[in-house]
Amino acid sequence: MKGLELRNRYLDFFKSKGHTVISGAPLVPENDPTVLFTTAGMQPLVPYLKGEKHPGGTRLTDYQKCVRTNDIDEVGDNRHLTFFEMLGNWSLGDYFKQDSIRYSYELLTKVLNIPVEKISVTCFEGDENTPRDLEAANSWQECGIPKERIYFFGKDDNWWGQEFGPCGPDTEIFYDTGAKPCSDNCNPSCDCGKYVEIWNNVFMEYNKKEDGTLEPLKKKNVDTGMGLERILFLLQGKNNVFETELFMPIIDKVKELSVNPNDASLRIIADHMRTSSLLICDGVSPSNVGQGYILRRLIRRAIRHMRKIEFDIDKITEVCDTLVLSISDMYPELISNKDIVIEQIKKEKNRFMNTLIKGEKEFGKILLKLNEESSTIMDGHNLFRLYDTFGFPPEVTAELAKENGLDVDMEGYKRLFEEHQNKSRQDAAGTFKGGLADHSKVTVAYHTAAHLILESLNRILGGHVDQKGSNITSERIRFDFSHPEKVQRETLDEIEKMVNEQIDNKLAVTCEEMPLDKARDAGARGVFDSKYGENVKVYTIENFSKEICGGPHVENTSMLKHIKIIKEESAASGVRRIKAIFIDE
Ligand code: ALA
Repeated sequence: MKGLELRNRYLDFFKSKGHTVISGAPLVPENDPTVLFTTAGMQPLVPYLKGEKHPGGTRLTDYQKCVRTNDIDEVGDNRHLTFFEMLGNWSLGDYFKQDSIRYSYELLTKVLNIPVEKISVTCFEGDENTPRDLEAANSWQECGIPKERIYFFGKDDNWWGQEFGPCGPDTEIFYDTGAKPCSDNCNPSCDCGKYVEIWNNVFMEYNKKEDGTLEPLKKKNVDTGMGLERILFLLQGKNNVFETELFMPIIDKVKELSVNPNDASLRIIADHMRTSSLLICDGVSPSNVGQGYILRRLIRRAIRHMRKIEFDIDKITEVCDTLVLSISDMYPELISNKDIVIEQIKKEKNRFMNTLIKGEKEFGKILLKLNEESSTIMDGHNLFRLYDTFGFPPEVTAELAKENGLDVDMEGYKRLFEEHQNKSRQDAAGTFKGGLADHSKVTVAYHTAAHLILESLNRILGGHVDQKGSNITSERIRFDFSHPEKVQRETLDEIEKMVNEQIDNKLAVTCEEMPLDKARDAGARGVFDSKYGENVKVYTIENFSKEICGGPHVENTSMLKHIKIIKEESAASGVRRIKAIFIDE
């Protein structure tokens, strides 16, 4: 059975049990700026788990693309993935433990034909607030799982929830690979690999509040998640996920194009290329902040491993082609976005390759010096220098260090990174949240464009528009602002036109320093003014705009190209986000 068939069988099964098949969410959550990625099928459903009515009814099912990067450094062994697909079914105050368990059992043993002997389960052992989950255990026994294969564990194993929000005890389902037990005490909670967790059924009865206390939910829900890649390799009788059709073609291709392949590097490359491609499809591009930085790390780590196994780096497009071909039956968005995926990966490769070789040499020198000093720790300064000058994400350096028997001082690195950030923030006098990715000419120009955009938004949409953040790379500006509703295309065109007129008008950009009060009296805009010191810089664009800002800016708007607003979307409740680029005409 292939991945796509497994997905369809899952959805069809739950459809036959009265569930509505809904669409999963994109990898970057649409209305939740508090998390970087969608990490579970329930994430987009939180409002409904808390009691809101879902248009699809009380029984739902879907497949959800998930990215989890907390154990990014574990990828390379035979289990961890940064991207995976979660198959899920939900009861919103409809059925509860017994039916949920019956459905799972039926799907596993009747539809997927897994022998019952292969299945073990775990249930919540109880604590001072919540009783031992005998209801779940009894339901399993009624289905035919013998007592010996029903285990009870505490909160670490059998309780599921995110930092806040809906949570509750769960029952986890494990597949016994048939490997020898690692000890007399070997059981499903053990990490030796004999038991593989395939499905988690969470019985969401509580809401965890921000103060950490639990309150009962209005209705009792079921939230389940099955890891598609894992169950797939088990059903196919393979040893691990990388042997399935989801990875094998990519691994074979990389292998074919490299001189010195090894399993760990091949897996890292395959996993990271897959995740990167799917992130790009959902609108992420490499940058130094947020989702973009995770993408950058994934691509750079993959490239570092490509060099390690002497992969012919000019053939990276062939790997992208293979990837698209091999998994686009499951993710057709890869076909429509193929060009952009390849372009982004190639661009990031070029950016990194420019410094990678020099960085590796530098690393070699540091290594030599540490060896001479008989030191086994690379300090924060070196980690920071490799990041700042050579674009080595610290995790990549840490990995390289480990390969050479060194530890790294990550804490020291983090301190320096923060100091540096504070310093650039001061230098830029707190320009914008998120900051500038670099100070090249283009980003400076975007920075000035941001002032034109803010003023134009105010003039066209109204005085309620405040800047809520911005993020500038040399490729584009992302600009968040308060506004209650979607901005229609024709309005965006008007905004664009007003900005471009100021560019055509060749307006002088001047800077003056003055006390904050005076700046306010002069009518300067300044959303983040509480962060500024007593004396502030005010940038004036002739008679068009006046804004408190640390700069830097271009001297005249004629130095900007015309802008084009390429995207308008929601960033959070009451906050809209636009993306604009400079265009060549
Ligand atoms: N939300 C549950 C999980 O992620 C199903 O494991």
